Amino acid sequence: MKTVVINASPRKKWNTAEIMQSAQKGAESVGAETEYINLYDVDFKGCRSCLVCKLKGKEKCKCYWRDNLSPIIERILAADTLLIGTPIYFGEPTAEFRALIERLIFCVLSYDDGSSYFTGKINVGLFYTMNAPLQFFEDSMKDNLAKTEFLFSFLNGEVTSYPVCDTIQVSDYSKFNMAGFSQEAKEKQWILQFPKDLEKAFKIGAELSK
Ligand SMILES: Cc1cc2nc3c(=O)[nH]c(=O)nc-3n(C[C@H](O)[C@H](O)[C@H](O)COP(=O)(O)O)c2cc1C
Repeated sequence: MKTVVINASPRKKWNTAEIMQSAQKGAESVGAETEYINLYDVDFKGCRSCLVCKLKGKEKCKCYWRDNLSPIIERILAADTLLIGTPIYFGEPTAEFRALIERLIFCVLSYDDGSSYFTGKINVGLFYTMNAPLQFFEDSMKDNLAKTEFLFSFLNGEVTSYPVCDTIQVSDYSKFNMAGFSQEAKEKQWILQFPKDLEKAFKIGAELSK
């Protein structure tokens, strides 16, 4: 079993990265071969609308635009599981996450009937990290993010999403103009809740990579 793990945060050592490393360990715990990618290290852009993937006679499920994302798309489509984590920026996944999705999903989407050309099955674990507390996520963000989750249904596998809420954004809030946040409350959340989130990420990584 192959599992591709993607950190779609620009930060390589913070919340999303830690969650994805735990998800990766979960995948490895059930024997999956894994690959970890920091998406912000990859030089690429979103879909250029070249439409070569929609040309008659062309092989399906292939993004024909050649840049450093092209081989990654190929490896994702050859994998059994995709684990991807993104911070929430203005209520949405990051721009880089979105750019990857444009490329990955557009090339498997049929413009004939809106179905998926993809005949394989890739389980997807989607992890969101955010400042918002869980209740705010449930009330105001979850429904909107379901649109993103729907796009992964084109890969025919199980899609599991998990919100990591109220994350710590900087190690010392006193150095920043961030009076809206309490260092004490953030640290408490980080000590009490974040380890549970890591554990959950491990379990999802393992479950989806079996
Ligand atoms: C540009 C920007 C926009 C953000 N917008 C939101 C937001 O709309 N809602 C939210 O809950 N957190 C927001 N955040 C906070 C991040 O989602 C949060 O700190 C996340 O855990 C960061 O992930 P990282 O530590 O892996 O980089 C924003 C952060 C940045 C830098």
